[in-house]
Formats: sequence, structure tokens, C-alpha cells
Amino acid sequence: YVMNDIMGITDLEKELKNRLGLKFVAISESVGDSQEGTLKTVSKKAARYLAENIRSGDIIAIAGGTTMREVALNVELEVNSNNNDVVVLPTRGSVGSDIDLQANSIAGLLAKNIGSRVEYLYVPDDIDVITRESLMSISELKRTVNDLKNANKIFFSVGRADVMSERRGMSEEDRKKLIDSGAVGEAFGHYFDKEGNIVLKINTIGIDIEMYKNCENPVVVFGGNDKVDSFLALYKINKNISLITDEDSAKEILNKV
Ligand code: G3H
Repeated sequence: YVMNDIMGITDLEKELKNRLGLKFVAISESVGDSQEGTLKTVSKKAARYLAENIRSGDIIAIAGGTTMREVALNVELEVNSNNNDVVVLPTRGSVGSDIDLQANSIAGLLAKNIGSRVEYLYVPDDIDVITRESLMSISELKRTVNDLKNANKIFFSVGRADVMSERRGMSEEDRKKLIDSGAVGEAFGHYFDKEGNIVLKINTIGIDIEMYKNCENPVVVFGGNDKVDSFLALYKINKNISLITDEDSAKEILNKV
């Protein structure tokens, strides 16, 4: 497919939406090779989409990571209203040690910027089944998980399996096993191969694949074509998604499908 070199952004959005059968597509203009610049423009695009589509009664789940942090930060510039009847939730408990990248921190940031309510999930990541069960007897946690099940929007980024396993502090040996098992992408603590099969799931409290598949509007946001293969793998899990990405990544997706 070579025609996309001369396509404008709007045509590219339409083409990508139709070809992949996605719910909605927004593409930010290419800013060249700068990773940081790409992340910024994509995040602004996503922040605008998020802000413009807030509806009364929304339950918005937002994931952790550098992309979602930028989205939450940029929403501040877009709206200045009160959304008392909207609730923001983190998709999961803690991951790694960087406070700025925690889903909890980002949910708090977003809620503040849109003037909504917020609920937190103060639980550690990678817990065993028994601990998980006993934690779930805490009524506050149970309520938050129930709200997560009812989230009508999920904002998240897709990660590369190699990058995310390192960020999560996985041992070299386990990382090698993970990559050898074909893992190319990660979302919600689930690692998947290029066919969209889950090869590893980090046990935590938060969004799982079933909740993700049942969600009315999951919105995946990513900048940088190093994540294209991870996105294409994610797309195999659930096609009922909205996509916000950059021009170069969009073109690469079209070249690969
Ligand atoms: O789960 C995937 C990660 O949220 C992606 O994180 O936005 O820092 O690349 P990132």
C-alpha cells in the first residue's frame, strides 16, 4: 500500500477507521523523529478528544504510564468545568516505583483537571490469589472494582513487552522467558503475542481482559512507530476500540495490514 504517502490527515483517519473497523480514529500530524514531540502532540489530541466527549454519568478508567500522564496533564488546558457526576478511576493498583507514572496518580490528576470525582486503588501489583481474595473483602475496594467493571471509557496506552517488563522490574531470566514466549505487547498488566494471545498476566486488582472487551469505548493512545507491532497485537484481542496516534504510526499500520 503506497498511496498513503500523499494522503492528508483526514483521509488517513478515515482510511484507518474503515480498514481496521475501529470505533473512532484521530491522528496527530507528524513532528519528525522526536519521540518527545510525538508523544506531546498525540497526547494533546487525546486530551482534546477526552475533554470534548465528557458526558454526565461517565465512568472513566485511565491507565498509568508516560502517555496517559501527558494526556491527563493536557486536559487541564482544554476544559474548565465541573463534572461532579463523572468519576475517574485508575485501571489498576501500583506498578514499579515511579509515582508520576502510577495509574492512581494519573487518575487523580485527570479528576482534578476535569473537576470530577475520583476513586483510587491503593493495592500492590503482582499479588497472589489468596491475598487478592482477602483484599477484595474490603468494601471500598470491592466498590471501586465494581465501578471499574462499569467503566464506559478506558483510556490507556499499549506498551512494548520488552520495555514494560523492564519497567516492572522483572528479572533478566523471566524477561527472556517472556520474550521467548512471543510477547510483543502489554496492556493492563497482560502481556500478549502478535496474535493477541495472552502469554502472561500480572496478578493485581484492576481491569482485566473481560472488562476491557465489555467496555463501550476503550481508547488506545500511542505515539511513536516503535509501538506499531504492539498495537497490532492488541487489536487482535479487541477490535471495538478507538485509536489516537501519530501520522507516521498510522501510515505504518496501514502498510502492515
Ligand atoms: O501498559 C502500557 C503502558 O501503559 C505504556 O506506557 O505510555 O509509558 O509507554 P507508556
